[in-house]
Amino acid sequence: MIIDIKSAKIPERQAWLKHAVAPRPIAFASTIDKEGNVNLSPFSFFNLFSTNPPIVIFSPSIKARDKSFKHTLLNVMEVPEVVISICDYDMVQQMSLSSCEFPKGVDEFIKSGFTKESSTLIKPPMVKEAKVKLECKVNEIKSLGEEGGAGQLIIAEILYMHVDESILNDEKAMIDPLKFHQVARMGGDWYAVVNEKNLFKVTKPSTEIAIGLDALPESIRSSSILTGNNLGQLANVHDIPLVNPSFEHERLKNIVQYFSVNPAEMEKELHIYAKELLDKENVNDAWQVLLAGENI
Ligand SMILES: Cc1cc2nc3c(=O)[nH]c(=O)nc-3n(C[C@H](O)[C@H](O)[C@H](O)COP(=O)(O)O)c2cc1C
Repeated sequence: MIIDIKSAKIPERQAWLKHAVAPRPIAFASTIDKEGNVNLSPFSFFNLFSTNPPIVIFSPSIKARDKSFKHTLLNVMEVPEVVISICDYDMVQQMSLSSCEFPKGVDEFIKSGFTKESSTLIKPPMVKEAKVKLECKVNEIKSLGEEGGAGQLIIAEILYMHVDESILNDEKAMIDPLKFHQVARMGGDWYAVVNEKNLFKVTKPSTEIAIGLDALPESIRSSSILTGNNLGQLANVHDIPLVNPSFEHERLKNIVQYFSVNPAEMEKELHIYAKELLDKENVNDAWQVLLAGENI
């Protein structure tokens, strides 16, 4: 299916894009106007864009209904400071409530029941309940258009970061992904949450240049059993490994003996075995199993 995004109506365009470009982290932004009225609103058009300087960007859109600016944008135009609290599962319902279109000047801290905590360097208060808060100064506002739906990028430099000790690892040296349950926005009413059921690791490409999929032997590359993920794991080596003569696995021996008269079946069985090893992150043994097939 092809969607001609430019000619789709705005709500339809928005729905397709928000479902597709997901999950998006949620910036819970506290701002203040020059009279001192506080505002708190969530924004999922948000991410980290630079570490030196440390820059996050979030984007309140122009309202489709009347082309007006969101209060958060009006506030940072008056006082170019923002605290971005990272939304986690414990906060999600109250955070959602705060996104109601309360009239300007209404304090969403009060409406959504969050507690104000003074920031260290800037005027807007932090959300006490949030486990990560970023005190930022707004460096620039970049408008992407004047029509309804046009993003207004708020480019913010992080000055101070507050991290709750409850989400630190045992050494208290870094945030523990198993302890911090960030939520993210999908399309429609859907959200995602980080927890141990959906966290996994991917070994970084080796610091030495990897061989790449194109350098895998043809029989491996065209396997009907090994998946794209499996090929990605196998291709993440600096050189194709050498056969290790001391590598002896009962199952490998059996496959080689049993299927000695049927090379196609042997290859299939070896690929099934290698796939099981790769799915357990055992890349070295998987290579040895596959090499047994290559050398026969
Ligand atoms: C999880 C979540 C994410 C949101 N992300 C955005 C966004 O990225 N941009 C936007 O314009 N509105 C977004 N909204 C809607 C705003 O939060 C909503 O319009 C809010 O009333 C704006 O408040 P303000 O006018 O006080 O700034 C989001 C709402 C929710 C619940």
